[in-house]
Amino acid sequence: MRKKATLITGAAGEVGQALVERVSQQENTHIISMDIKPLPPELDSKVQHIVGDILDKSLFNRLVSEYDITHIYHLAALLSTSAEYQPMLAHDINVGGTMQLLQLAAEQSEWKRNPVKFIFPSSVAAFGMGSLENKAANPRPQEWEWNNPITMYGCNKLYGETLGIYYSNHYKQLADDNPTMLDYRCVRFPGLISAYTVPSGGTSDYGPEMLHAAAQGKPYACFVRESAAISFMAMPDAVTSLIQVASAPREKLKHQIYNITAFSLSAEEFAEYVKKHFPDAEITYESDINRQRIIDSWPIDMNDDAARRDWGWNPDYDAERAFSEYLVPNIRKRYES
Ligand code: SER
Repeated sequence: MRKKATLITGAAGEVGQALVERVSQQENTHIISMDIKPLPPELDSKVQHIVGDILDKSLFNRLVSEYDITHIYHLAALLSTSAEYQPMLAHDINVGGTMQLLQLAAEQSEWKRNPVKFIFPSSVAAFGMGSLENKAANPRPQEWEWNNPITMYGCNKLYGETLGIYYSNHYKQLADDNPTMLDYRCVRFPGLISAYTVPSGGTSDYGPEMLHAAAQGKPYACFVRESAAISFMAMPDAVTSLIQVASAPREKLKHQIYNITAFSLSAEEFAEYVKKHFPDAEITYESDINRQRIIDSWPIDMNDDAARRDWGWNPDYDAERAFSEYLVPNIRKRYES
Protein backbone atom coordinates (compact mmCIF):
# COMPACT_ATOMS: atom_id res chain seq x y z
CA MET A 1 0.00 0.00 0.00
CA ARG A 2 1.21 3.47 -0.80
CA LYS A 3 1.87 5.70 2.18
CA LYS A 4 -0.59 8.59 2.65
CA ALA A 5 0.95 12.03 2.21
CA THR A 6 0.16 15.74 2.03
CA LEU A 7 1.92 17.66 -0.74
CA ILE A 8 2.82 21.35 -0.31
CA THR A 9 4.19 23.14 -3.37
CA GLY A 10 5.94 26.50 -3.13
CA ALA A 11 7.02 25.38 0.32
CA ALA A 12 10.04 27.67 0.53
CA GLY A 13 7.90 30.76 -0.08
CA GLU A 14 6.38 32.90 2.66
CA VAL A 15 3.07 31.08 3.01
CA GLY A 16 4.78 27.76 2.33
CA GLN A 17 7.20 28.05 5.22
CA ALA A 18 4.46 29.04 7.64
CA LEU A 19 2.20 26.24 6.42
CA VAL A 20 4.96 23.61 6.60
CA GLU A 21 5.63 24.68 10.18
CA ARG A 22 1.95 24.38 11.16
CA VAL A 23 1.09 21.17 9.27
CA SER A 24 4.20 19.45 10.58
CA GLN A 25 2.76 19.84 14.08
CA GLN A 26 -0.18 17.62 13.09
CA GLU A 27 0.45 14.06 14.10
CA ASN A 28 0.43 11.25 11.56
CA THR A 29 0.79 13.49 8.53
CA HIS A 30 3.60 12.67 6.16
CA ILE A 31 4.46 15.93 4.39
CA ILE A 32 6.17 16.14 1.05
CA SER A 33 7.18 19.71 0.39
CA MET A 34 8.41 21.00 -2.91
CA ASP A 35 10.06 24.13 -4.22
CA ILE A 36 12.79 25.16 -6.63
CA LYS A 37 14.65 26.33 -3.52
CA PRO A 38 15.72 24.35 -0.45
CA LEU A 39 13.87 24.88 2.82
CA PRO A 40 15.60 26.70 5.68
CA PRO A 41 17.39 24.05 7.81
CA GLU A 42 15.00 24.38 10.78
CA LEU A 43 12.08 23.35 8.56
CA ASP A 44 13.92 20.86 6.38
CA SER A 45 14.18 18.34 9.19
CA LYS A 46 10.40 18.35 9.70
CA VAL A 47 9.35 17.22 6.21
CA GLN A 48 10.47 15.33 3.14
CA HIS A 49 11.59 18.21 0.93
CA ILE A 50 12.08 17.89 -2.81
CA VAL A 51 13.97 20.55 -4.71
CA GLY A 52 12.32 20.45 -8.11
CA ASP A 53 10.45 22.21 -10.84
CA ILE A 54 6.66 22.39 -10.68
CA LEU A 55 6.60 21.72 -14.44
CA ASP A 56 8.60 18.48 -14.15
CA LYS A 57 5.96 15.85 -14.90
CA SER A 58 8.25 12.88 -14.28
CA LEU A 59 8.84 14.06 -10.74
CA PHE A 60 5.11 13.92 -9.99
CA ASN A 61 4.76 10.54 -11.70
CA ARG A 62 7.44 9.17 -9.39
CA LEU A 63 5.73 10.74 -6.38
CA VAL A 64 2.35 9.15 -7.01
CA SER A 65 3.89 5.76 -7.65
CA GLU A 66 5.17 5.86 -4.08
CA TYR A 67 2.60 7.96 -2.20
CA ASP A 68 -1.15 8.20 -1.88
CA ILE A 69 -1.44 11.99 -1.94
CA THR A 70 -4.58 12.89 -0.01
CA HIS A 71 -4.13 16.68 0.20
CA ILE A 72 -2.42 19.15 -2.11
CA TYR A 73 -1.72 22.70 -1.00
CA HIS A 74 -0.62 24.25 -4.26
CA LEU A 75 1.15 27.46 -3.31
CA ALA A 76 3.86 27.73 -5.98
CA ALA A 77 3.45 30.95 -7.98
CA LEU A 78 5.26 33.96 -9.34
CA LEU A 79 3.71 37.01 -7.63
CA SER A 80 2.14 40.07 -9.21
CA THR A 81 5.10 42.41 -9.70
CA SER A 82 7.53 39.66 -10.80
CA ALA A 83 4.95 38.33 -13.23
CA GLU A 84 4.80 41.69 -15.03
CA TYR A 85 8.53 41.41 -15.79
CA GLN A 86 8.26 37.82 -17.02
CA PRO A 87 4.70 37.24 -18.21
CA MET A 88 5.44 34.08 -20.21
CA LEU A 89 7.33 32.49 -17.34
CA ALA A 90 4.57 33.55 -14.93
CA HIS A 91 1.98 31.93 -17.15
CA ASP A 92 4.01 28.73 -17.37
CA ILE A 93 4.38 28.50 -13.60
CA ASN A 94 1.06 29.92 -12.45
CA VAL A 95 -1.17 28.29 -15.05
CA GLY A 96 0.96 25.38 -16.33
CA GLY A 97 1.95 24.34 -12.80
CA THR A 98 -1.63 24.54 -11.55
CA MET A 99 -2.97 22.64 -14.55
CA GLN A 100 -0.39 19.89 -14.11
CA LEU A 101 -1.27 19.39 -10.45
CA LEU A 102 -5.01 19.56 -11.05
CA GLN A 103 -4.67 16.92 -13.76
CA LEU A 104 -2.64 14.73 -11.44
CA ALA A 105 -5.14 15.19 -8.60
CA ALA A 106 -8.05 14.44 -10.95
CA GLU A 107 -6.41 11.25 -12.22
CA GLN A 108 -5.54 10.11 -8.71
CA SER A 109 -9.07 10.84 -7.45
CA GLU A 110 -10.56 8.86 -10.31
CA TRP A 111 -8.14 5.98 -9.93
CA LYS A 112 -8.58 5.47 -6.19
CA ARG A 113 -12.27 6.48 -6.26
CA ASN A 114 -11.62 8.90 -3.45
CA PRO A 115 -11.30 12.65 -3.94
CA VAL A 116 -7.92 14.29 -3.43
CA LYS A 117 -8.35 17.60 -1.58
CA PHE A 118 -6.85 20.42 -3.59
CA ILE A 119 -6.34 23.68 -1.70
CA PHE A 120 -5.54 26.68 -3.86
CA PRO A 121 -4.66 30.15 -2.61
CA SER A 122 -5.99 32.71 -5.02
CA SER A 123 -5.63 36.41 -4.48
CA VAL A 124 -7.15 39.86 -4.26
CA ALA A 125 -5.36 40.25 -7.62
CA ALA A 126 -8.25 38.35 -9.23
CA PHE A 127 -10.20 41.61 -8.91
CA GLY A 128 -9.85 44.61 -11.18
CA MET A 129 -11.83 47.66 -10.11
CA GLY A 130 -11.35 49.60 -13.33
CA SER A 131 -11.01 53.04 -11.75
CA LEU A 132 -10.42 54.73 -8.41
CA GLU A 133 -14.06 55.87 -8.47
CA ASN A 134 -15.22 52.25 -8.74
CA LYS A 135 -12.76 51.25 -6.03
CA ALA A 136 -14.15 53.89 -3.65
CA ALA A 137 -17.76 53.08 -4.47
CA ASN A 138 -17.34 49.29 -4.11
CA PRO A 139 -15.09 48.72 -1.10
CA ARG A 140 -16.12 45.12 -0.36
CA PRO A 141 -16.76 43.22 -3.58
CA GLN A 142 -18.24 39.75 -3.53
CA GLU A 143 -16.27 36.88 -5.06
CA TRP A 144 -17.97 37.10 -8.44
CA GLU A 145 -17.89 40.89 -8.80
CA TRP A 146 -15.25 42.97 -10.57
CA ASN A 147 -13.35 39.95 -11.90
CA ASN A 148 -11.35 42.00 -14.40
CA PRO A 149 -7.72 41.60 -13.33
CA ILE A 150 -5.12 43.86 -14.90
CA THR A 151 -2.05 41.79 -13.99
CA MET A 152 -0.72 38.56 -15.47
CA TYR A 153 -0.72 37.12 -11.94
CA GLY A 154 -4.36 38.12 -11.40
CA CYS A 155 -5.39 36.61 -14.75
CA ASN A 156 -3.51 33.43 -13.85
CA LYS A 157 -5.18 33.17 -10.45
CA LEU A 158 -8.66 33.78 -11.85
CA TYR A 159 -8.08 31.11 -14.48
CA GLY A 160 -6.63 28.77 -11.81
CA GLU A 161 -9.95 29.17 -9.96
CA THR A 162 -11.89 28.35 -13.12
CA LEU A 163 -9.74 25.29 -13.81
CA GLY A 164 -10.30 24.11 -10.25
CA ILE A 165 -14.05 24.35 -10.73
CA TYR A 166 -13.77 22.50 -14.04
CA TYR A 167 -11.68 19.66 -12.63
CA SER A 168 -13.84 19.24 -9.54
CA ASN A 169 -17.25 19.47 -11.20
CA HIS A 170 -17.04 18.89 -14.93
CA TYR A 171 -13.87 16.86 -15.61
CA LYS A 172 -14.61 14.69 -18.65
CA GLN A 173 -18.25 15.63 -18.06
CA LEU A 174 -18.57 13.11 -15.24
CA ALA A 175 -21.59 13.65 -12.99
CA ASP A 176 -21.37 16.35 -10.31
CA ASP A 177 -21.74 14.08 -7.31
CA ASN A 178 -19.32 11.49 -8.68
CA PRO A 179 -17.08 10.26 -5.83
CA THR A 180 -14.10 10.21 -8.16
CA MET A 181 -14.04 13.99 -8.58
CA LEU A 182 -11.28 15.90 -6.87
CA ASP A 183 -12.31 18.18 -4.02
CA TYR A 184 -11.22 21.73 -4.88
CA ARG A 185 -11.28 24.54 -2.32
CA CYS A 186 -9.91 28.03 -2.78
CA VAL A 187 -9.38 31.16 -0.68
CA ARG A 188 -8.58 34.59 -2.05
CA PHE A 189 -5.89 36.15 0.11
CA PRO A 190 -5.36 39.86 0.70
CA GLY A 191 -1.78 41.15 1.21
CA LEU A 192 -0.04 38.93 3.75
CA ILE A 193 2.39 40.03 6.45
CA SER A 194 4.81 37.70 8.18
CA ALA A 195 7.08 38.46 11.11
CA TYR A 196 9.61 35.89 9.96
CA THR A 197 9.94 36.31 6.22
CA VAL A 198 9.97 39.25 3.82
CA PRO A 199 7.98 38.94 0.59
CA SER A 200 9.54 39.26 -2.83
CA GLY A 201 7.95 40.09 -6.13
CA GLY A 202 4.49 40.99 -4.83
CA THR A 203 2.77 44.37 -5.01
CA SER A 204 1.38 44.39 -1.47
CA ASP A 205 5.02 44.12 -0.34
CA TYR A 206 5.21 47.80 0.67
CA GLY A 207 3.39 46.99 3.94
CA PRO A 208 5.71 44.26 5.20
CA GLU A 209 8.77 46.02 3.71
CA MET A 210 7.95 49.21 5.63
CA LEU A 211 7.67 47.30 8.89
CA HIS A 212 10.78 45.16 8.45
CA ALA A 213 12.81 48.24 7.42
CA ALA A 214 11.67 50.14 10.53
CA ALA A 215 12.62 47.22 12.78
CA GLN A 216 16.13 47.30 11.31
CA GLY A 217 16.41 51.07 11.67
CA LYS A 218 16.49 51.54 7.89
CA PRO A 219 14.66 54.30 6.00
CA TYR A 220 11.93 53.16 3.63
CA ALA A 221 10.55 54.76 0.48
CA CYS A 222 7.04 53.39 0.01
CA PHE A 223 6.27 52.69 -3.67
CA VAL A 224 2.58 53.66 -3.44
CA ARG A 225 0.99 56.93 -2.36
CA GLU A 226 -0.26 57.52 1.20
CA SER A 227 -3.94 57.04 0.33
CA ALA A 228 -3.48 53.68 -1.45
CA ALA A 229 -5.63 51.16 0.45
CA ILE A 230 -6.02 47.38 0.28
CA SER A 231 -6.68 44.66 2.84
CA PHE A 232 -4.04 42.71 4.74
CA MET A 233 -3.77 39.68 6.96
CA ALA A 234 -1.23 38.37 9.46
CA MET A 235 0.44 35.16 8.30
CA PRO A 236 -0.84 32.93 11.14
CA ASP A 237 -4.41 33.72 10.04
CA ALA A 238 -3.56 32.93 6.42
CA VAL A 239 -2.28 29.50 7.42
CA THR A 240 -5.30 28.92 9.67
CA SER A 241 -7.61 29.73 6.77
CA LEU A 242 -5.96 27.13 4.52
CA ILE A 243 -6.25 24.45 7.17
CA GLN A 244 -9.81 25.43 8.07
CA VAL A 245 -11.07 25.45 4.52
CA ALA A 246 -9.34 22.09 3.92
CA SER A 247 -11.02 20.49 6.92
CA ALA A 248 -14.51 22.02 6.59
CA PRO A 249 -17.25 19.42 6.02
CA ARG A 250 -17.90 19.41 2.31
CA GLU A 251 -21.66 19.78 2.66
CA LYS A 252 -21.15 23.12 4.45
CA LEU A 253 -19.26 24.62 1.53
CA LYS A 254 -21.76 26.41 -0.66
CA HIS A 255 -18.98 27.82 -2.80
CA GLN A 256 -15.54 26.79 -3.91
CA ILE A 257 -13.94 30.23 -4.06
CA TYR A 258 -13.96 32.29 -0.86
CA ASN A 259 -12.77 35.84 -0.24
CA ILE A 260 -11.05 36.13 3.11
CA THR A 261 -9.74 39.25 4.76
CA ALA A 262 -8.67 40.59 8.14
CA PHE A 263 -8.16 44.38 8.06
CA SER A 264 -7.97 47.13 5.50
CA LEU A 265 -5.43 49.95 5.75
CA SER A 266 -4.15 52.77 3.61
CA ALA A 267 -0.37 52.99 3.25
CA GLU A 268 -0.45 55.96 5.61
CA GLU A 269 -2.46 54.08 8.23
CA PHE A 270 -0.04 51.17 7.87
CA ALA A 271 2.84 53.60 8.45
CA GLU A 272 1.10 54.96 11.57
CA TYR A 273 1.00 51.46 13.08
CA VAL A 274 4.68 51.05 12.23
CA LYS A 275 5.58 54.40 13.81
CA LYS A 276 3.58 53.65 16.94
CA HIS A 277 5.97 50.76 17.63
CA PHE A 278 9.09 52.19 15.96
CA PRO A 279 8.81 55.97 16.54
CA ASP A 280 12.09 56.65 14.71
CA ALA A 281 10.92 54.97 11.51
CA GLU A 282 11.72 57.06 8.43
CA ILE A 283 8.99 56.48 5.86
CA THR A 284 8.68 58.48 2.66
CA TYR A 285 6.47 58.02 -0.39
CA GLU A 286 7.85 57.60 -3.91
CA SER A 287 5.00 56.24 -5.91
CA ASP A 288 6.03 53.85 -8.69
CA ILE A 289 3.54 54.39 -11.48
CA ASN A 290 3.22 50.72 -12.46
CA ARG A 291 2.94 49.27 -9.00
CA GLN A 292 0.55 52.08 -8.02
CA ARG A 293 -1.73 51.12 -10.94
CA ILE A 294 -1.83 47.55 -9.67
CA ILE A 295 -2.76 48.56 -6.12
CA ASP A 296 -5.35 51.00 -7.48
CA SER A 297 -6.95 48.08 -9.34
CA TRP A 298 -7.39 45.99 -6.18
CA PRO A 299 -10.36 46.58 -3.87
CA ILE A 300 -10.03 48.40 -0.54
CA ASP A 301 -11.40 45.32 1.21
CA MET A 302 -13.23 42.11 0.25
CA ASN A 303 -16.59 40.75 1.29
CA ASP A 304 -15.79 37.57 3.22
CA ASP A 305 -19.30 36.91 4.57
CA ALA A 306 -19.56 33.56 2.75
CA ALA A 307 -16.37 32.22 4.38
CA ARG A 308 -17.57 33.40 7.79
CA ARG A 309 -20.96 31.78 7.29
CA ASP A 310 -19.95 28.49 5.63
CA TRP A 311 -16.81 27.46 7.48
CA GLY A 312 -16.52 29.81 10.43
CA TRP A 313 -13.80 32.09 9.07
CA ASN A 314 -12.90 34.61 11.77
CA PRO A 315 -9.36 35.99 11.81
CA ASP A 316 -7.57 36.09 15.15
CA TYR A 317 -5.70 39.27 14.30
CA ASP A 318 -7.21 42.66 13.56
CA ALA A 319 -4.67 45.40 12.76
CA GLU A 320 -4.10 46.40 16.38
CA ARG A 321 -3.50 42.86 17.57
CA ALA A 322 -1.51 41.86 14.48
CA PHE A 323 1.03 44.61 15.14
CA SER A 324 1.18 44.51 18.92
CA GLU A 325 0.96 40.76 19.57
CA TYR A 326 2.34 39.02 16.50
CA LEU A 327 4.36 41.24 14.17
CA VAL A 328 6.27 43.66 16.37
CA PRO A 329 7.38 41.28 19.17
CA ASN A 330 8.55 38.62 16.72
CA ILE A 331 10.19 41.06 14.31
CA ARG A 332 12.06 42.69 17.20
CA LYS A 333 13.38 39.30 18.26
CA ARG A 334 14.35 38.47 14.70
CA TYR A 335 16.52 41.55 14.21
CA GLU A 336 17.89 41.74 17.75
CA SER A 337 19.50 38.33 17.54
N1 SER B 1 0.53 39.59 -2.25
C1 SER B 1 0.31 39.25 -3.63
C2 SER B 1 1.05 40.18 -4.53
O1 SER B 1 1.25 41.30 -4.13
C3 SER B 1 -1.14 39.34 -3.97
O2 SER B 1 -1.75 38.13 -3.69
O3 SER B 1 1.38 39.80 -5.60
